[in-house]
Amino acid sequence: MNDITLNNGVKIPKVGFGTAAIGSWQQDDDYVKNVIISAIEAGYRHIDTASLYGNERSVGRAIKESGIPREECFITSKVWDNEQGTKATIAAFENTLKRLEMDYLDLYLIHWPVPEKTQETWQAMESLYEQNRIRALGLSNFRQSDIEQILGFAKVKPAYNQLELHPYLLQKELTEYCESQGIVVACWSPLGSGTWRGIPIDEKPVSDQTISDIATKHSVSNAQVILKWNVQQNRIVIPKAESPNNIINNLLLDGFGLTAEDITQINELNRNQRFGADPDTAYEENMQMNVPA
Ligand SMILES: NC(=O)c1ccc[n+]([C@@H]2O[C@H](COP(=O)([O-])OP(=O)(O)OC[C@H]3O[C@@H](n4cnc5c(N)ncnc54)[C@H](OP(=O)(O)O)[C@@H]3O)[C@@H](O)[C@H]2O)c1
Repeated sequence: MNDITLNNGVKIPKVGFGTAAIGSWQQDDDYVKNVIISAIEAGYRHIDTASLYGNERSVGRAIKESGIPREECFITSKVWDNEQGTKATIAAFENTLKRLEMDYLDLYLIHWPVPEKTQETWQAMESLYEQNRIRALGLSNFRQSDIEQILGFAKVKPAYNQLELHPYLLQKELTEYCESQGIVVACWSPLGSGTWRGIPIDEKPVSDQTISDIATKHSVSNAQVILKWNVQQNRIVIPKAESPNNIINNLLLDGFGLTAEDITQINELNRNQRFGADPDTAYEENMQMNVPA
């Protein structure tokens, strides 16, 4: 009920905890660790991080200090653009595990497509998967053409694709393509991203009047409506929250259901509006961004 089974049989909790820019971008300290501990105490068992977020040490320390056994947590990390390639991917993976102080990952993603490196990167990930060091392999920000490229040579089919997806950006064709290939869709910035992107909260889907009306009807929060809209359609969500109320609220999605009409109304809010980078244009800028030591 609260998990989705990936195409290799591995189960992933539908609601994960996003960790990008807790505190500030690439912050990695006790503050970050304590926010993640609060999330674990609230009940999250799925945590989304990335080498680029610069906070893998805090994630690892939070899990250790929470006292929850490692194997009860589902940990996702990602290989950054300029870490891709055969040897570089293996080195990036080893560094990620070292920072997390773990000996395996539940899910490892290619953070953004770098088409000239995709085959080398994926095959390096496949070798780690075959050594049981990663339980599932996936993608992030991959367009249909990028997925088709991978499917042309993959021995291990991608299980997951993490996309910017919220009521203002439906990505309907891509989502349907992923689902037709047995690739589970996960939504990043499900609420429309944090204020760190400089967009006022009242311009985001979480403040939309249609969402508010549906929330009032079901006596839940706007965020719960958006998250439920995704999980009810078998998509994974990874909201990030620092406020204790938001951390708890985003996990409480049982006890109400959206109607088909609610779902249609939310779908109709689509305006193809991105709050984050676009895979068609992100390449140059991403290549200039580095994973902190
Ligand atoms: N693969 C990629 O390329 C990629 C890109 C971007 C993000 N991500 C992942 O996706 C995660 C989430 O994305 P995001 O951090 O950009 O945005 P988000 O989860 O859509 O939004 C976070 C913002 O929403 C607020 N919020 C959280 N719960 C709320 C609630 N119940 N009611 C009202 N406001 C609420 C948070 O406030 P407070 O913090 O004050 O509680 C924060 O300002 C990231 O942390 C990261 O793990 C992946």
